[in-house]
Amino acid sequence: MHPPSTSAPRVRQADFLFRCIGCGDLSDAAGQDFRCSRCADLLEITYPQWQKAKPSAENLKSAWSRRRLSLSPVDLSGVWRFRDLLPTLEPAPGATRDDGQQVITLREGNTPLYELPQCAAITGVPRLFAKHQGTNPTGSFKDCGMTVAATFARRAGFRWVACASTGNTSASMAAYAARGGMRSLVLVPEGKISWSKLSQALDYGAVTCQLRTDFDGCLRLLQELVRRAPVYQLNSINPFRLEGQKTLALELLEQLDWQPPDHIIVPGGNLGNSSAIGKALLEMRDLGLIARLPKLSVIQAEGANALVRTLRETGGKRLVSVQAETRATAIRIGNPASWKKAAHVLEATGGACEQVSEVEIAQAKAEIGAEGIGCEPASAVTLAGLKKLVKQNFVKPDESVFLVLTGNLLKDPDFTIDFHRGDLFKGSADESASARLAPLRRAPIVLDAALDAVTRVLEQAEKS
Ligand code: F0G
Repeated sequence: MHPPSTSAPRVRQADFLFRCIGCGDLSDAAGQDFRCSRCADLLEITYPQWQKAKPSAENLKSAWSRRRLSLSPVDLSGVWRFRDLLPTLEPAPGATRDDGQQVITLREGNTPLYELPQCAAITGVPRLFAKHQGTNPTGSFKDCGMTVAATFARRAGFRWVACASTGNTSASMAAYAARGGMRSLVLVPEGKISWSKLSQALDYGAVTCQLRTDFDGCLRLLQELVRRAPVYQLNSINPFRLEGQKTLALELLEQLDWQPPDHIIVPGGNLGNSSAIGKALLEMRDLGLIARLPKLSVIQAEGANALVRTLRETGGKRLVSVQAETRATAIRIGNPASWKKAAHVLEATGGACEQVSEVEIAQAKAEIGAEGIGCEPASAVTLAGLKKLVKQNFVKPDESVFLVLTGNLLKDPDFTIDFHRGDLFKGSADESASARLAPLRRAPIVLDAALDAVTRVLEQAEKS
């Protein structure tokens, strides 16, 4: 095992700057905690050369579609295909520019859009679609950010990368670190992440620590660790992650031939993804790639509703942290790091922020599953939230809506099996409220291996 390198390389680039979202300070280098050296607020990446020479929207669109015919790894990646709007790596000393662009990629992005006709009928919104990020290489949207941030970590010379995670970030980070020849350290809350996600991190070779705390405790510890050890932080505090995750919105708009939808709805946990999608929408508008902004809305679980409370109780001025609790463990986060960025993009796009109950999440997940698509519980908050936004007349029946499904169904099989067996809410305060979900359940049927028995089941199912 190699110890972490003792000199902590700093990242320095040519075509972009770090901007503090608090005081606006611009800098060409970032410390390992990715916080402003003056006011300690979060950093974002900005492209000053766009002010001087704005890239032409038409040239960008045609370059991106031309690259779809290419077989080079950067073009086959659904993230790096959009590299004109991503930070450029300076070539390593002595390397050609192409060598400098060497990226760690698993062909991330390129995710499908699906119509959701049954959910459309349920919600009364006929033009309802899902952008399914669960088809990414490790099964979640994290891969789109990880390809960029891991590439910069390696380019900056780090041997170790690390993250705190509710599961998906760790799975993704471990995979990209392994592909890039780096070691990875994972901090996850003990007992509060799904086995599927944990198994991915183990298989991809991460040093995995299950800490006796929650996600927020893991993240706090990681922040201290990166100040002491030369370990590169790959949480979404890292602004390179968010640049990669921007491509979800670029790809979506390209799939829509640059005709903006009315609404995009995304789950909110640590609030990096909503911030990234919002940043992409604003940049696309500023560059003339789209003529108007879709409304970006964020949905949280009632038990992990820090942004909902922050907006309702302080008008977005001060974070209201919560002690998070939800079976949608991916978003079991009470102290979201990117709350300010998310509050900004919600305001800029005119989006809403809602919360949904555990029963509503389980119902929505089963309804998405019944479309033959499936997703993990955290992703299903989008459909549950849409139902509320329709009731409030925030989403109108003639508007188009895109739900971002962030993770694959197989990410949390325990939740799905517990639901279908009727065990999910057993003994909980939601037990009686969940009775109405019985028609959605498909419990496995244990039978003798007899033709008669199977035929009877078939006849019974035909009647129901
Ligand atoms: N959906 C899924 C499936 C997630 O894994 C996460 C976050 C979110 C939604 C929320 O996204 O944090 O950008 O607001 N998972 C992180 C993790 C925290 O560690 O895997 P966010």
